[in-house]
Amino acid sequence: MSARGGFIVLEGGEGTGKSTNLAFCAEWLAARGITVVQTREPGGTALGEQLRTVLLSQAMSAEAETLLMFAARAEHLATVIRPALAAGQWVVCDRFTDATYAYQGGGRALPAARIATLETWTQGELRPDLVLLFDAPPAVGLARAAARGGPQDRFEQEHSAFWQRVRQAYQARAANDPDRYRHIDAACSLPEVQAQLGRALDHFLAHRP
Ligand code: TMP
Repeated sequence: MSARGGFIVLEGGEGTGKSTNLAFCAEWLAARGITVVQTREPGGTALGEQLRTVLLSQAMSAEAETLLMFAARAEHLATVIRPALAAGQWVVCDRFTDATYAYQGGGRALPAARIATLETWTQGELRPDLVLLFDAPPAVGLARAAARGGPQDRFEQEHSAFWQRVRQAYQARAANDPDRYRHIDAACSLPEVQAQLGRALDHFLAHRP
């Protein structure tokens, strides 16, 4: 039986470049002979993508929002993430449970203990091996997101205090577990961000048991 694959998650606020750099990370790993599954949350499965459409457009309570995030996650874990990891493939995911702690916990002020209960129920012991935290002042990210054009989703319409809380929640989680999180200064240019990512991935591969 092959060893479990690595589980890497990209996290951060809006417009911090996670989605652009997901492909960069996957290509970086593939160039080193690693088979990578690229996926995202909410989404990554047929059910998850339907829930994503609802979550990004339909007004709802913070509790319903959190439970739907975990419903999408449970399906994603059962049908994509766990099978890939068990087969020795690596999973590179655009957002995971840290986003719930940051957006529903920080942004919507839902108690972290409730999120932790759902996390344990849904994931058991499974946690990402590496979280790449794309960090930038909210004004920088929101300006980039606005420059992309198109209609704003329900989260993108949030106010600046929400974004400050989201950023603080991410930063606090990273500070509590420095071995598992790598801070990426996402306010830099794309080549500088990708140089930081290369260093973070190099370090991770070199220290992975
Ligand atoms: P995206 O913009 O990175 O594709 O993610 C969709 C939105 O969903 C984004 O605004 C963050 C939000 N989200 C949460 O609020 N909680 C979660 O647990 C996840 C995975 C995403």
